[in-house]
Amino acid sequence: MSKLWGGRFTKQTDRLVEEYTASITFDKELAEEDIEGSLAHAAMLGKQGIISAEDAEAIREGLLKVRSKIRKGEIEFSIADEDIHMNIEKHLIEEIGPVGGKLHTGRSRNDQVATDMHLYLRRRVVEIVDQLHKLQSALIEQAKANTDTIVPGYTHLQRAQPILFAHHLMAYVSMFGRDAERLMDSYKRINVLPLGAGALAGTTFPIDRHFVAEQLGFDRVYENSLDAVSDRDFIVEFLAHASLIMMHLSRLSEELILWSSTEFRFVELDDAFCTGSSIMPQKKNPDVPELVRGKTGRVYGHLVGLLTVLKSLPLAYNKDMQEDKEGMFDTVRTLQGALQLFERMIATMTVNKDRMREAVNQDFSNATDIADFLVGKGMPFRQAHEVIGKTVLYCIRNGKFLLDLTLDEFKQFSQLFDESIYDVLKPETVVNARDVYGGTAKPQVLAAIERAEQELERTAAWVAAHGESE
Ligand code: ARG
Repeated sequence: MSKLWGGRFTKQTDRLVEEYTASITFDKELAEEDIEGSLAHAAMLGKQGIISAEDAEAIREGLLKVRSKIRKGEIEFSIADEDIHMNIEKHLIEEIGPVGGKLHTGRSRNDQVATDMHLYLRRRVVEIVDQLHKLQSALIEQAKANTDTIVPGYTHLQRAQPILFAHHLMAYVSMFGRDAERLMDSYKRINVLPLGAGALAGTTFPIDRHFVAEQLGFDRVYENSLDAVSDRDFIVEFLAHASLIMMHLSRLSEELILWSSTEFRFVELDDAFCTGSSIMPQKKNPDVPELVRGKTGRVYGHLVGLLTVLKSLPLAYNKDMQEDKEGMFDTVRTLQGALQLFERMIATMTVNKDRMREAVNQDFSNATDIADFLVGKGMPFRQAHEVIGKTVLYCIRNGKFLLDLTLDEFKQFSQLFDESIYDVLKPETVVNARDVYGGTAKPQVLAAIERAEQELERTAAWVAAHGESE
């Protein structure tokens, strides 16, 4: 049961302390990255003559053996070896003998774990950008199928003005586009190499950090060794970006839940994405969006959790920082699961166009447009607003909608009304009147779809350039 650091100790570690301080139960998720970092470090040690070329080669082969055993599930990690770094080193030494002990020359677990985290997160970020891209594509497909579907647009969850359903969906395409942009931007702060910082101050060995960076595909190395081992900003930033994505997903979730209720019936989620009730046979519950809405909370929690761990921590490494991992892993799992499900749920959802039309015909969301009509005839907007308010009240009292009124009825409220008002009030006219950049008129929405598709091509090119083909 000897520890890799046991030399200075006269007693065995208390079993409870071992269990409490060990991270292997969760940082085993970093096994691939840990070995990847070690392979580059060993190659550098050999190249610099810090260890012999034969030793470097023996270590390389040993690491590859350990890796293949881990991949096959043949290695059992042990709590007594604390974390993934020491578990792997132990197995390396078992595999190739004492020469394996040369791997840790010029390195500390502090710069090692930081390197692992950078390697891990840069992979996940590329995957998540790719997933966002796929979800955006699914939304765009639905938008394209709904460029003539008119639906009430809401403010305060009250019907406000009619819009194209495509326009509503494209709002989410913009939101997820910003999310992808944020992650792509953060990549340059993730893709920086900490290794070579040693425990905190650098190392006495003549290492070559830039060579290691190149081996591992890092664009830069950390400028300052203390910063290198104590920086977790890139994880906080990721958790913040993940929180925004979850927030966006939760808003879409909420709309899907509302829209699939009997009260709205605007969309129907595919049976494969809903669940039933154990007691009420008629129920079809939108569990997936509900759960995504709910899981948003834990991601926010991880963000605040890590910020709190880091608050007031003195430089450089502190054991507290081991707490950076579980929240990050859980966030990655939660987010990737949600994005994967959402892409398919959006792609398979049925849009109830007739029901949307019915809703549009039975509301006053064209009221702004008659006000604008009167303004066009010279009435000040504030006065027109008042006139239409009275007209709407008259409709409500008489169980009518604006399009049901006769011209005589209109004229009771203003002599400026004429026959053309009926065309002005048609949902199509109302929608197409918003013909400004970013507005809901059909030509604008078609142009927006085209721009979004061009943007998606750029994102796909970024993913292709940054993804790893193994
Ligand atoms: N398991 C540790 C962590 O995740 C690795 C670094 C340990 N370094 C140390 N000096 N104890 O933070």
